[in-house]
Amino acid sequence: MGKIAIFLLHTHLLLGVGSSLVIQSMPWRVPCPHQCVCQIKPWYSPQSVYREAPTVDCNDLLLIQLPTSLPQETQTLRLQSNLISSVDQSELQGLVNLTELDLSHNSFTSTRNLRITGLPALLSLHMEENQLRHLPEAAFFGLPSLQELYLNHNRLRSISPGVFKGLDKLLRLHLNSNRLVVIDRRWFHALPQLEVLMIGGNPVDTVQDLNFKPLSCLRSLVLAGMGLREISERALEGLQNLESISFYDNHLIKVPKEALQKLPGLKFLDLNKNPIQLVQRGDFQNMLHLKELGLNNMEELISIEHSAMENLPELTKLEITNNPRLSYIHPQAFQKLLSMESLMLNSNALSALHSQTVRSLPSLQEISLHTNPIRCDCLIRWVGADNDKPVRFIEPQSTFCSEPPELKARRVKEVSFREMADSCLPLIAPSTFPSYIEVKHGDNIALHCRALAEPEPSIYWVIPQGVRLTPSSSYGRYQVLTEGTLEILGVTAEEAGFYTCVAQNLVGADTRSLTLHVEGGDLVHTNTQKTEDSFEVQDVKERYALLTWQANRNIPTAHLSWVANVSLEDHHRHSTRILAGTRRFNLTRLQPGTHYKVCLHMGPNDTSCVHLRTKEVSMPDPLPDLTPAVLLAVSALLLLFAARACNGGHKRKIFFLPQKWTDLYIWQGPQTYDLKCSEWDEHFGPLFPEI
Ligand SMILES: *[C@@H]1O[C@H](CO)[C@@H](O)[C@H](O)[C@H]1NC(C)=O
Ligand SMILES: *[C@@H]1O[C@H](CO)[C@@H](O)[C@H](O)[C@H]1NC(C)=O
Ligand SMILES: *[C@@H]1O[C@H](CO)[C@@H](O)[C@H](O)[C@H]1NC(C)=O
Ligand SMILES: *[C@@H]1O[C@H](CO)[C@@H](O)[C@H](O)[C@H]1NC(C)=O
Repeated sequence: MGKIAIFLLHTHLLLGVGSSLVIQSMPWRVPCPHQCVCQIKPWYSPQSVYREAPTVDCNDLLLIQLPTSLPQETQTLRLQSNLISSVDQSELQGLVNLTELDLSHNSFTSTRNLRITGLPALLSLHMEENQLRHLPEAAFFGLPSLQELYLNHNRLRSISPGVFKGLDKLLRLHLNSNRLVVIDRRWFHALPQLEVLMIGGNPVDTVQDLNFKPLSCLRSLVLAGMGLREISERALEGLQNLESISFYDNHLIKVPKEALQKLPGLKFLDLNKNPIQLVQRGDFQNMLHLKELGLNNMEELISIEHSAMENLPELTKLEITNNPRLSYIHPQAFQKLLSMESLMLNSNALSALHSQTVRSLPSLQEISLHTNPIRCDCLIRWVGADNDKPVRFIEPQSTFCSEPPELKARRVKEVSFREMADSCLPLIAPSTFPSYIEVKHGDNIALHCRALAEPEPSIYWVIPQGVRLTPSSSYGRYQVLTEGTLEILGVTAEEAGFYTCVAQNLVGADTRSLTLHVEGGDLVHTNTQKTEDSFEVQDVKERYALLTWQANRNIPTAHLSWVANVSLEDHHRHSTRILAGTRRFNLTRLQPGTHYKVCLHMGPNDTSCVHLRTKEVSMPDPLPDLTPAVLLAVSALLLLFAARACNGGHKRKIFFLPQKWTDLYIWQGPQTYDLKCSEWDEHFGPLFPEI
């Protein structure tokens, strides 16, 4: 191509035509058919050989048949967008050098009306955008040189097995956007040299085993916009020379890894726009020539798991963008990607990219992270550190921190290493799973819970029965996989209820809950039955109050809020989520002798409030009776608890974990308090020494 471009440039300069590389036509003085334009025009063969072709252009003329007296020297005949429904060989008689015939966007309904039986020089035939419904046996016989055949955007429903007989030089075949429901291997027996096959946009839902076996020269295969749900292990067998494949916009729910292993020469792989939720260990491995991989526009994609990509020695560009739910890339997702230069991760739901991920890519040159909800804490700290091998940020001007609040809207690149915390809380992205799902009796369910943090968090699930399930454990129909996915196999009404995933490390924890409704199971009452006056104070002491209520509805959004009216400027409003099914709550850490307003919110229009006043302290009470049980509880809390240092002398954040795992009814957190340092000692000083 380089040579051609230079050649063209010279021609242009000689002709004195503008400075751009727009290819110009030259006059061709022949008797030209009425209304058509005859010119010498640049032309490229399907193999990119350049020619100056005598061209007759009769596009858009409402012709119902071919014009008469076409010049004998014609090489390119353009009849696009007319009303032609038949052509006879006699109309093309004598055009021995005709190389391209464009009949696209006309009125052909059958190739029986395309009676061209002897065009020995024809390389390119355009029949796209007609109304062909069926292709019979040997439909294009008599075109022995044909290299390029366009049949896309017709209404083809059926194609005879021997349709392409005689086309043994064909290089490109466009069958996309028709109404085919199967791909028949027999079509391809006549096409030993085919290099490009476009067959997307047909309602085909499976590729049969060995479907493309005869196409051993094929280099590019486009299977976009079909209904493909899975690709069987042997579907792509025989495509020894395939370099590029596109599965864009199908219904694949997992990476067809076994089928891809049968493509030894694959360089470009497009899996964009498929409902794949997880890219799992081993999904892309040992593909020795893969250069570029696209995993974009996936509405369902949540996570790129440990060793998802392994030993792809020639992979240079990885594009994982515009995936609205993608919040997790395992720190060791990429293994042995020694040539990877360009990592595109913009427009996802990523809160961070682990430094380990970046360090695992020795050739990395550029990275794109903009339009992600980046949390500017320890996980992204490597950006501001003095790295020995700097990585270029694409669009650093629009790569912002979205958390913590004090760094919000700052550019990630401009936040210094010191400004970012050196350990960080787990974060379960809101996009990981919805807060409510409805399933059918007998369905298999997988709920994926992932969290990035430093130190690496552990994950577990609390199921409606109150049982805590850690990874690699199972219980009844439940199973928690190592990565944090909760699986329920064959769900029944018994599994309906409230689920919580907890991700915790030494710094704190994050939780995310969901209500599972099983169709045909106990119906969730949707009629707004108010909790009414049933919300009441059962017991009040100096520092705690026990509240109870009737839970008529099992709603996922319930929470409890409380506020003391000690002084007007000191209105610290606290709030905590309540597990569905809970009917009482022990409100602890209250101030003695204080008036509180406590409200239970069971939905947008359903709030009940009570007022209470805690008891005055009668006697100085250093610490509650330090029975062994209490000591044990306190030490457990110390382990699960850490406080952020006083920031500028007036604030610190405290994260609490549930205090009693065994009794979900007094689930307490996690809760976040912003307190002044002075309040710290008053509230927690004696109990929790500075860490
Ligand atoms: C066809 O092409 C050949 C080779 O370029 C040329 O010699 C011949 O004159 C052409 N025939 C017509 C009818 O233009
Ligand atoms: C707090 O509430 C009590 C009881 O309603 C009321 O008597 C008192 O005035 C309130 N104090 C403030 C500061 O609002
Ligand atoms: C409520 O919490 C307090 C303080 O942790 C504790 O002393 C009390 O026993 C609890 N009450 C109930 C009923 O659990
Ligand atoms: C809540 O009340 C408002 C106003 O009375 C009403 O428009 C709305 O539909 C109610 N929402 C629910 C969920 O009942």
